[in-house]
Amino acid sequence: MPVAIITGASKGLGRALAEALAERGWDLVLDARTAQPLQETAVAILSKYGAQVRALPGDVTDGAHRAQLVAAARELGGVDLLVNNASALGAEPLVRLESLALDGLRRALEVNVVAALGLVQEALPLLRESTEGSVIDVSSDAAAEAYETWGGYGASKAALDHLSAVLGEEEPGLRVWAVDPGDMGTDLYAAAVPDDDDPRPDPASVVPAFLRLLDGRPASGRYGAPALLEQR
Ligand SMILES: NC(=O)c1ccc[n+]([C@@H]2O[C@H](COP(=O)([O-])OP(=O)(O)OC[C@H]3O[C@@H](n4cnc5c(N)ncnc54)[C@H](OP(=O)(O)O)[C@@H]3O)[C@@H](O)[C@H]2O)c1
Repeated sequence: MPVAIITGASKGLGRALAEALAERGWDLVLDARTAQPLQETAVAILSKYGAQVRALPGDVTDGAHRAQLVAAARELGGVDLLVNNASALGAEPLVRLESLALDGLRRALEVNVVAALGLVQEALPLLRESTEGSVIDVSSDAAAEAYETWGGYGASKAALDHLSAVLGEEEPGLRVWAVDPGDMGTDLYAAAVPDDDDPRPDPASVVPAFLRLLDGRPASGRYGAPALLEQR
């Protein structure tokens, strides 16, 4: 069975992707900081799909935790896919740059960039051993467009995009995709913009875009879920 590590998998996009992969026969290593919802997710996936699931609570910024995630994947057989999905906004709700706390920006960079690279470094030997080794770095529209109040978070996602692009060049044997999932109605979005009551798509609705990447294995690069979903 192929093995995926998905960070931030207790809810939202990470959970939806975990369920879809389990349905396709993948074994999973999942993390999130809060143990109970993570455990509930793992139990639900195990009982519904019979996948092997290792649910390890922890913070992706903790190097020892990242090593645990990769060790758990090694026990399951290796790492075929690493999804850097866990993310920090830097301020909740988001604020204009003039009042963005610098510690908030540091946190966004630490979670969204430094930890993502740390996990890539930890997993690279196993990813290279896989016949279809892939990395998905979950990006955002805010990495490419200048939206008021999204500056700190957007800067961190832009940095993540660039790391993904360079990793794709340095590791031609892998696929490295930065993916903008588009807006989704999740806790992260509500924390970012609590006054925005407009309905947003369910994260499960964008998962087919990620599956399309895994099936088609297009070149490493940056992809948007809406465009992937439009392809026939
Ligand atoms: N929602 C949107 O509109 C939208 C748009 C563009 C891009 N994105 C991106 O999509 C990805 C998924 O976001 P989402 O909207 O699905 O968020 P979500 O529903 O709030 O889920 C975030 C997940 O990450 C975990 N997490 C957060 N910080 C973590 C850390 N430091 N270490 C380990 N786990 C951590 C959370 O659990 P704990 O809190 O228990 O740790 C949770 O499992 C993110 O990369 C986000 O930037 C979202």
